[in-house]
Amino acid sequence: MFRRLRRAKPISLTEQLQLMQADWDKRARKNARYFVSTSRTDWNDQDFFASGERAIAEDILTDTADIYQGKDPAGMRVLEIGCGAGRLTRALSGIFGEIHAVDVSGEMVARARAALHDRPNVTFYQNNGCDLAAVPPLVFDFAYSSNVFQHIPSREVIDTYVREVHRLLRPGALFKFQVEGNPSARDSSPDDTWHGVSFNREQATAMAQRCGFEHRYSFGEGHHYFWLWFFKPPA
Ligand SMILES: C[S@@+](CC[C@H](N)C(=O)[O-])C[C@H]1O[C@@H](n2cnc3c(N)ncnc32)[C@H](O)[C@@H]1O
Repeated sequence: MFRRLRRAKPISLTEQLQLMQADWDKRARKNARYFVSTSRTDWNDQDFFASGERAIAEDILTDTADIYQGKDPAGMRVLEIGCGAGRLTRALSGIFGEIHAVDVSGEMVARARAALHDRPNVTFYQNNGCDLAAVPPLVFDFAYSSNVFQHIPSREVIDTYVREVHRLLRPGALFKFQVEGNPSARDSSPDDTWHGVSFNREQATAMAQRCGFEHRYSFGEGHHYFWLWFFKPPA
């Protein structure tokens, strides 16, 4: 997946973000839906978005007490980080009132916008791969990210996202997201935009504390899909 020879000198954050954008734009142009979900190379619309519905049924509809917190989802504003070609965004937009979705790749965002032109409750943004300055300073009721941080080769970038989500979430709300949990990925190269840095439970808890969250639950420690439930403390 666009593997590079290891560089002799360390890479700057600016170079790293430029690489993320360039590599994901390249993947989007080559076969966006394959790089979003590698179980197939020839996704048609129906199957691609059905796979998003299944993922959201598993991640959201089985966890409504933590996510809805007694609210009507039709009245909730949701932030999605790393929306890709809109696979999960479409399913989220059928549940929640308002979705704001960001991605570092303008090519991915263009595909997501085109595919979800019939969903007026979704707004897409291309961001810099690190913070949420591209999103207006709204208050969000829930934030979600799946299949994204597993590709980010920098703890600094992931920390920045977690702080940024904390800035935008209302007190008490949940950021549910997935990171790489497989320890063999721990020394991923800083210029590898496919294999991200990995976390164990202690590292995840330390990140939550640094960024102002309570790390209430996790699932999948030691595995590729390591899910984290970070709650912003009540005001
Ligand atoms: C494997 S795709 C998953 C897309 C979507 N979450 C899904 O599951 O259908 C990963 C997405 O994360 C985006 N991405 C990678 N690094 C990112 C970063 N640092 N900031 C924002 N988006 C990023 C990529 O452009 C790509 O669209």
